[in-house]
Order: sequence, then structure tokens, then C-alpha cells
Amino acid sequence: MSDITTGGAGRGANGGEGPLLSVEGLVKHFKLDPKGLFDAPPILRAVDGVDFDVMRGETLGLVGESGCGKSTTARLVLRLIEPTAGSVTLDDVDVLACSKKELLALRREMQIVFQDPLSSLNPRMSVGNQIAEPLRFHGIGDKVDRFDRAREFLEVVGLSSDYYDRLPHEFSGGQNQRVAIARALILRPKLLILDEPVSALDVSIRAQILRLLIDLQGRFQLTYVFISHDLSVVKRFCNRTAVLYLGRIVEIAESESLYREPLHPYSQALISAIPEANPDGPRADSLGGLEGDVPSPISPPTGCPFHTRCPHRMPECSERTPVLKEVKPGHQVACFLH
Ligand SMILES: Nc1ncnc2c1ncn2[C@@H]1O[C@H](COP(=O)(O)OP(=O)(O)O)[C@@H](O)[C@H]1O
Ligand code: SF4
Ligand SMILES: [Mg+2]
Repeated sequence: MSDITTGGAGRGANGGEGPLLSVEGLVKHFKLDPKGLFDAPPILRAVDGVDFDVMRGETLGLVGESGCGKSTTARLVLRLIEPTAGSVTLDDVDVLACSKKELLALRREMQIVFQDPLSSLNPRMSVGNQIAEPLRFHGIGDKVDRFDRAREFLEVVGLSSDYYDRLPHEFSGGQNQRVAIARALILRPKLLILDEPVSALDVSIRAQILRLLIDLQGRFQLTYVFISHDLSVVKRFCNRTAVLYLGRIVEIAESESLYREPLHPYSQALISAIPEANPDGPRADSLGGLEGDVPSPISPPTGCPFHTRCPHRMPECSERTPVLKEVKPGHQVACFLH
């Protein structure tokens, strides 16, 4: 079954040079008019111009409060939904220009793990068959091969191969997340998008799953995009971190630099709200004393999207929109203060 062990669709024109994933000017505007009642339907700006690169073997964190566009960005990268504008390139392949057939091949190279394993697993199918399912879907191997490979991947994620016939309800949340990870890895993707992979799990289980993900990254040479609203997890897990606010990246830098010296007032508020002494404890209710709630993405503020809450706002902030600018090597921020 060399088809399985080599993994992916044999792409990789740039042979290891340059970023594995490149996202440019990505926009997703949802028209909120299911019944077709409006001439000019309200538009929700879920993702509003996002650019980032992910290098091979690195983990890029995407952080921000709920509703800032993290999951929509993930779905756009995988082309589970179509963008309003922008480009996504994986290993020199233009994801958005792919035909259906090419997209199928590309799906072997990038996979996603969702927050809630139970809702992403079929309650009536054995966990072993669910891990084997992507092989069947892509026509890889015969029944026996797929059975053997699924048993192997149960062990890869730290479960016993004897659990093949169990159903998801017989497992804990952490065990089901291991099943979801095995299913995502069985096609040997290059890129794994982890969308809040530990947010639904008990605190005691989170560290185990994160450790597993680190082990798997080394073993399978994986590149991760790690999405979380929990900055204390991202800080420990990601090489670089991008902070999102209302569908835009407001700051992106090496995690070490971002957490030590956040430059954007929103990043500063997020980071000051991390309870350092008890990183796994409940989050602070207010973000570093910020005023107000996140504005609606249906009518986002003019100018800097953060100006309605920013303690440092200036007159120009409501008139002009700051763009991401490199202020130190590898450290970009979108704010007129910098
Ligand atoms: N299919 C959809 N139709 C309309 N609005 C959506 C849809 N999916 C997401 N949204 C909206 O887009 C915004 C970003 O959502 P999401 O990407 O899920 O945020 P996050 O993952 O950061 O919590 C939210 O306001 C959400 O309600
Ligand atoms: S551009 Fe102005 S409003 Fe926006 S974050 Fe910077 S100082 Fe605050
Ligand atoms: Mg989400």
C-alpha cells in the first residue's frame, strides 16, 4: 500500500522552499437574506481581508474572541466554503482555482480537526471504520488494508487497536478527539487545521491531547494552524501567533515576541487578561478593562475596527483603516500608534 504510506497526492512543486500555505486578501461576506426579502441584503463581514503564510513544520496560532472569523478562515482555506475574494495557495497549488477532481486530491494534503469530537463523529459507526473512512472515500487500499491501517492509527493516537469496534459514546471526550485526530491523519496530510481542538475537553485532558499533537507533528512532519480563543494555550503551543479582530489580523509575530511585548492595543488587552498564575483557570470576564462588546460584523466600525473600544484612539482612527505593517523583523501590526 505505498499509496497510503507516501501520503498526499504527490504534489509539492516548490520542493520544500517557501511557505506551505499562503493566504492573501481572503474575504468572506455572508449575505443574510435566506428568504430573498431584501433588494440590498444585510452583509456580515466574517472575514475581511486576511493575509498570512505558514511555513513548513511550524505551528501558526489564530486567536481572537468568539465570532472574529477564525473558523470561517479555516473553512475557506480548506475550501469547504467559497470565498468572496482572495487567494489560498497550498504547496504552490492555487486551492481556489482547483477543479472538483483536483480539490479531492488536495483534500488529502489538508485536513481539519474540530472542537467537538462527538458532533464530528458518526454516533452509529465504529471508531475504527470512521478512522478508515477517508481511505475508503479516496479509494485507497482494499478492505483488509484499510482495517489494518485504521488499527495502526488507533495506536498512533494512543488508543488500543482492540477498540476498533467501539462506538463514540463508549469513549470519553479526549478519546473521541484522539479518534478524530487519527481520522484526520490517516491520509498523511501535510497541513492540519486544529479548530479549538482542546476547548471542549476537561482541563486535565487538554495537556495530554496537546502533547499528542506535538508528538505527531514531529513524527509525521506536520504543519499546523492552531485556532483558539484561549491565549494561554496558544502561547505554549504556537511558533507564531496571529491576532484576529472583526475578521482582520491586527497583529502577527513570533509568539514569544507577541506575548512579551504585544504592540496592538487589542493584543495588549487579550494578553493582560491571561491569568498567568493559573493558565488553565477560568478566563477573566473583561478583557484587560476594555470598554464595551465586540461590534457586530454586520455594521463594523469605520476606520480602525477596534476604535470603539481602544483606550488609545485618536481622531484619525475612526476615519482611516490601518493596514498591517512590519514594525520589527517578523512582527506586523495594524495600528496608527506604530
Ligand atoms: N454560514 C454563515 N452564515 C452567516 N454568518 C455566519 C456563517 N458562518 C459564520 N458566520 C458569522 O461569521 C462570524 C465569524 O464566525 P466564525 O468564523 O465562526 O468565528 P469564530 O470561529 O472566530 O468564533 C460570526 O459573526 C458568525 O456568526
Ligand atoms: S489605530 Fe487607533 S483605534 Fe486602532 S488600535 Fe491603533 S490607536 Fe487604537
Ligand atoms: Mg470557531
